[in-house]
Amino acid sequence: MTFDPRALRDVFGCFTTGVTVITTNPADAPVVGVTANSFSSVSLDPPLVLWCLGKESDTVPVFESVPNYAINFLAKDQEELSNHCAKRGDHSLDCAELDVATTGAPIIKGAIASLDCEIADRIDAGDHIIMLGKVVDIVIQDIDRAPLVFGRGQYRALS
Ligand SMILES: Cc1cc2nc3c(=O)[nH]c(=O)nc-3n(C[C@H](O)[C@H](O)[C@H](O)COP(=O)(O)O)c2cc1C
Repeated sequence: MTFDPRALRDVFGCFTTGVTVITTNPADAPVVGVTANSFSSVSLDPPLVLWCLGKESDTVPVFESVPNYAINFLAKDQEELSNHCAKRGDHSLDCAELDVATTGAPIIKGAIASLDCEIADRIDAGDHIIMLGKVVDIVIQDIDRAPLVFGRGQYRALS
């Protein structure tokens, strides 16, 4: 590597994104939510999306075993929930009101919209795992609400 990894992190961080919480419902364990801004749409037909999970996350064993998850696009007023689901070692969703999607994945009430996904593939990618999902249902809650936005390491307001 001819560049400083810190500089690479800074460049990645200047790509401003929305914020999602990825939720799933493991067998014989409480539901789990992980904050992620690595979401990307991939394909309309078939409907595919991805997000990336750090290999050091406590939640890797969960996402290696479940068949589905939901991607919840957070609204501007859900910063507290985003911080809660980003806490190391605590990915419980006790603080959130939940619904159940078609696949059985939990849906966060109050999100802008949620994508109910079957896991299509898990792709090894350096220090992350690319979680490729096939969208099997969409839940639109309030598409006109302002999104939670993250860039350069902070939540941002859209102007
Ligand atoms: C705004 C934001 C975006 C994040 N995006 C990701 C992501 O895309 N992938 C990921 O693995 N972790 C991401 N994280 C970190 C995780 O939410 C979590 O903090 C991390 O997995 C450490 O906890 P764990 O080891 O208990 O999983 C993000 C955190 C924040 C605050």
